Amino acid sequence: MRVWLASDHAGFALKQALVEWLTAQGYEVEDLGTYTPDSTDYPLWVHKLAERFPAEERAILICGTGNGVCITANRYPHLRAALAWNREIARLARAHNDANVLCLPGRFIPTEEAQAAVQAFLETAFEGGRHERRLSQINPPHLC
Ligand code: RB5
Repeated sequence: MRVWLASDHAGFALKQALVEWLTAQGYEVEDLGTYTPDSTDYPLWVHKLAERFPAEERAILICGTGNGVCITANRYPHLRAALAWNREIARLARAHNDANVLCLPGRFIPTEEAQAAVQAFLETAFEGGRHERRLSQINPPHLC
């Protein structure tokens, strides 16, 4: 499975660590940047990812809090982004929310916890059932 990653400067160090770790785990990794720790704007990296990312694959977006990238990603119909800061929340983002994008708070999560969250995100299947029904209710009724 391909794993796509992108971050701003605040997520840069964690993204680099995850790229290295995922590659060592045998995943095919698409690193869309940023490629330096210089200050940059998080929406640019989310837009870059959204233009390329096939919805059936998995992506990881990182900024300082995880919120900026998550808010931006969820403007795209083919991205369902979930913010997680530990393994269990990341697992539930797949099992209950069928998220295809994991957003991490680069300034607030230790690398080992982020690795555990990413592992759970990549290895957990959507449970379907009642969660499928709930996902079908997410769009505002006036947009359906
Ligand atoms: C950058 O300072 C920071 O605002 C950004 O990484 C992110 O946390 C925004 O939501």
